[in-house]
Amino acid sequence: MKPIRIALTKGRLEKDTVALFDRMGMDTSQVKDKGRRLILPVTDPREPSRSIEVVLAKAADVITYVEHGVCDLGVVGKDTIAESGGSFYEVLDLGFGRCRFALAAPGGSDFFAGYHARTVASKYPNVSRAYFGRKGMDVEIIKIEGSVELAPLLGLSDAIVDIVETGSTLKENGLQVIEDVLPISARVIVNMACMKLRKSEIETLIGSMEQHLCVK
Ligand code: PRP
Repeated sequence: MKPIRIALTKGRLEKDTVALFDRMGMDTSQVKDKGRRLILPVTDPREPSRSIEVVLAKAADVITYVEHGVCDLGVVGKDTIAESGGSFYEVLDLGFGRCRFALAAPGGSDFFAGYHARTVASKYPNVSRAYFGRKGMDVEIIKIEGSVELAPLLGLSDAIVDIVETGSTLKENGLQVIEDVLPISARVIVNMACMKLRKSEIETLIGSMEQHLCVK
């Protein structure tokens, strides 16, 4: 039987997930010493049949690989899930990679005052549109690829919707949170067909992940 294949978002979520695998008693030495390799075995020394295969990918690609079933599971931030959507099961909140989406604007400005048309810049236009839709506000959303904090500083937008973790990027650029939009953390997603076809293996793996989560 081929091993369960799990797509991991490269970077911080990768590190936290590998630490979780370590707590589960898995051998993650090949991921830690991966060089330029992108598909790596994570073995279970006590139970070789429970070994898995890790695929390192960018966040949006984790969803693509899981949706298409070339990876059974994925670990990806709620930010990417909320922006991309897609057909998969979201089964577990891993509790790490915690931050939030927030609406932020230059200090002293009153974003909600008056009836003028408002413009908001974001790397996450779908999240932004859904947020203002829930508020019944008609806001122009401008998609920005890089440091979105620049948009209000340059006069392109009244505010931004972006990820806030420590808040220091906002602070150092004279912006402040007006309202939180959505809490974010790493989630486990599962391909819909794999969930049926490999139910017991997937449930065992997810059960073990859940058991070894760090409760903060
Ligand atoms: C995110 C976000 C902010 C920053 C917030 O960018 O877009 O710029 O982190 O973090 P803070 O509240 O701790 O200052 P990231 O560093 O992920 O880079 P990106 O622009 O490539 O998304």
